[in-house]
Amino acid sequence: MILKSKSELEIMAEAAVINREALEAIEPTIKPGITTAELNEIAENAILSRGGKPAFKGYRGFPATLCTSVNEVVVHGFPDDQPLAEGDIVSVDIGTFYRGYAADMAKTYAVGKISVEAQRLLDVTERALYVGIEVARAGNRLGDVSAAIQNVVEKEGFWVVREFVGHGIGREFHEAPEVPNYGRAGTGPVLRPGLVLAIEPMVTQGRTQVVVLGDGWTAPTADGSLAAHFEHTVAISEDGPRILTARDQRPRERAVIKGGVDGA
Ligand code: MF3
Ligand code: CO
Repeated sequence: MILKSKSELEIMAEAAVINREALEAIEPTIKPGITTAELNEIAENAILSRGGKPAFKGYRGFPATLCTSVNEVVVHGFPDDQPLAEGDIVSVDIGTFYRGYAADMAKTYAVGKISVEAQRLLDVTERALYVGIEVARAGNRLGDVSAAIQNVVEKEGFWVVREFVGHGIGREFHEAPEVPNYGRAGTGPVLRPGLVLAIEPMVTQGRTQVVVLGDGWTAPTADGSLAAHFEHTVAISEDGPRILTARDQRPRERAVIKGGVDGA
C-alpha cells in the first residue's frame, strides 16, 4: 500500500475537484433525449479546460472519457448515440489525471421520473458508500469498510456485486489494496493516514452474476435486473476520512442523513 505525503494529497485534492466539476457539468443535462455521447463530450471538455486529462480514455483501450452504464449495465458502458429515455437510470463513472495524480468518482442518475424501486436502489447504494466512508478511519481494517457496505445493502434486500471492486489510487489509477464491497469486519490490512481509496459499491436489485459483453467492457447483470454504482476518492487522515471528490469533504452528516451509519 502506497501512503501519500501531505503535498501529494493536496495535488490529489486538486485532481478530485476537476473530476467532480466535470461530473457536475453534465448533471443538469441528464434528461430524456440526451445521448451518453453528448454527456461524454461535455465532461471531456470540462476536464481539458481545467488542465486535467481524462483518465479512462485509452486505458487498456477504453474508448471514452466517461463510462456510461444504463439500467442493467453495472459498469464500463460505452457512451453512444442512443438517447436516454424517461425512467432510465444511468451510472456515470469519471476519472481524471492532474499533475501526475488520479481521481475517480461515479454516480447513478435518474432520467426523468423513475420507479420507486429504482429510486430505492440508488438511495441504498449511495448510503452504502457513505457508510463505508465513515468506517474508513486510521486504525480500522479494510474488512470493516467492506462489511459495513455489504451490511447496508443486504439489509435492504439488494445484492453486492462481487465481480468488480474498489481500489487504492494515486500515481496509478489502480493501486493496492483492492476494496471489495463484501467481507468480514476485523479482517484485512489496517488503514493508515495517507492511504487513498476509491470506494465504489456496485449494487444489483437481484442476486445475479455480472457478465461482460463481446466488446470486452460493457458489464450487465446476467438476469437483466437494474444496477447502481456510487464512488468517491477518499483519503484516510489522522482526523477521519476526507472525501476528495466531494464538495463537502467531511462525511459524517451525510451518512446519518441518508439513514444512519449502521444502516438501521
Ligand atoms: N472507475 C472505474 C474503476 O475504478 C473505471 C475504470 S475503467 C476504464 O476501475 F477503463 F474505463 F478506465
Ligand atoms: Co474506481
